[in-house]
Amino acid sequence: MKTMQNSDKPDDRLSEQERGQNGEPGPEPRKSDGPQQDNRPQKAVKKPENQRPQPYLTKSGKLDNVCYDIRGENVLLARQMEEDGHRIYQLNTGNTYPFGFNAPEEIIQDVIHNIPKGQGYISSKGLFPARKAIMQESQILGIQDIDIEDIYMGNGASELINMALQALLNNGDEVLIPCPDYPLWTACTSLAGGLAVHYLCDESNGWLPDLDDIRSKISARTKALVVINPNNPTGAVYPKETLLRLLEIAREYKLLVFADEIYQKITFNGIQVPPIASLCEDLFVITFNGLSKAYRLPGFRVGWMILSGHGKRYAADFIEGLDILSSMRLCSNVPGQYAVQTALGGYQSIGDLLLPQNRLNRQREYCYKRILEIPGLSSTEPEGALYFFPKLDKEIYQVEDDAVFARELLREKKIFLVQGTGFNQKDHQHFRITFLPPVFDLEIIFDGIADFLAHYND
Ligand SMILES: Cc1ncc(COP(=O)(O)O)c(C=O)c1O
Repeated sequence: MKTMQNSDKPDDRLSEQERGQNGEPGPEPRKSDGPQQDNRPQKAVKKPENQRPQPYLTKSGKLDNVCYDIRGENVLLARQMEEDGHRIYQLNTGNTYPFGFNAPEEIIQDVIHNIPKGQGYISSKGLFPARKAIMQESQILGIQDIDIEDIYMGNGASELINMALQALLNNGDEVLIPCPDYPLWTACTSLAGGLAVHYLCDESNGWLPDLDDIRSKISARTKALVVINPNNPTGAVYPKETLLRLLEIAREYKLLVFADEIYQKITFNGIQVPPIASLCEDLFVITFNGLSKAYRLPGFRVGWMILSGHGKRYAADFIEGLDILSSMRLCSNVPGQYAVQTALGGYQSIGDLLLPQNRLNRQREYCYKRILEIPGLSSTEPEGALYFFPKLDKEIYQVEDDAVFARELLREKKIFLVQGTGFNQKDHQHFRITFLPPVFDLEIIFDGIADFLAHYND
C-alpha cells in the first residue's frame, strides 16, 4: 500500500486556486487563455480561518478483506507490457470475444433493432419479455414455484451476487463458499460485512465438495451455502447425488442456497447439469445465470437471478431488501436485455462448440494432453466451464508465493494466468488457465509454460 511520504504532503500554504480541485497545483495557463503576462495588481487571496489540511485519501476499511486477483496487481504489469509493445496471452479471465467466440448473429441483430427502445429507464427488476423467457426456460428445466416477480435482471450475474449478499448479511454472518472459489463470492461476502467460510473441494475426489467439511463448518451464524456448478476454477461438474446431499445439508441447517450456474450450458462428453433448484421444491434457492458464457456476451453485462422454492415464503423481509437495492440502481443495462428472449428461445449454438470435433472441446483436450506431458504438472480433466486448475508438484517446484510465480511467468513468457491463491486456494501449488485460445496459440502458451517450468528451480 502506498504510504504518505513527507514529500507527498500537500503544501497547505497554497491557496485553493493554486492547488486546483484535487489539492494538486493548478494547471499552467494555456496559450489560448490570453496574454502570458498579467501585470494587473493581484488581489490578495484570503485564507479561510479554519482551513483543513488536505487529507490523504485512503480506501474504505470495508475493502480490507476484499481481494480480487483475477483483475489484480499483475493486470497493471500486463498492461504496461502491452504498452511497451509486447503481445500478452491474456488467460486471466473467461472472456470469450478476444478468442474469436462471437455471439450468434441473430442476437446481435435483435439488440441493434431494439436499441431505440432501450433508451429509457425500465422497471428495476428488468424487461418483461426477458424475464418471461427466463421464467419459461426455468420451468422447462424443472425449477418449481416461480413467477415473473421472482426474476431479477442485473448488470451481469456479478452485480446480483453482490446485491444478494448485501441484502442478506449482517456484520459477522457467515457464508459457506467453496475452496477454491470464484473469488467474487468471497470478496462480496467480505464487502457486505460477512465472513466467508471456505469449505473444501477435494482434488483427489474430482474436486467434489467435501460434505463432512461443510457440516463441520456450520455455525449459528451460517446463513447461506454457495454452490458453483459447473465449477470455476476447477471445471468439476457435480453429479446429481452430490447436489442432493448438498440440499440435505441446506435443509437440515435451514440455509439459503446460492446456486451460481453461469456455466450450466457448458459441459462436455454429453453430461447434463440439472439446476440444483430443480431438485427441491421446499428450499429457498437463488440461481444465478446470464449471457456472458454460453451466449458469448460478457460485454453486454446481462445476468439474472431466480428466486425459487417454498422457503422464500419465510424471506419476505430479505426479498424486500433485494427490491430496495435493485431500485436504488434504477435498472440494469436495457439494450442488453433485448438479447435474452432471442438467446434463450432460439437455436442453442453453444451445443455445437462443445461437440467432440469442435473448437471448445478440441482446445480442452489439447490443454489436457499438454498439462500431463509436463513433468510435475497434473490436473483433473474439466467436465464443464472453461478452465483447468492444474497442480504443481511440491517436490519438483518450490513455489513460495504463487503470485510471484504468475508474475515471473508473465514477465518471462508473456503468459498471463491467475495463481491459485487468487481463488482462495490455500496452498501455492495451483494456477488457473482458460482453454479459450485456439490450438495454435495454446501450442505457444504450453511451450512457454513447459520451458518456464523446466528452468524454474535454476
Ligand atoms: C462462476 C462465475 N460466476 C459469476 C461470474 C460473473 O458473470 P457475469 O459476467 O454474468 O457477471 C463468472 C464470470 O467469470 C463466473 O465465472
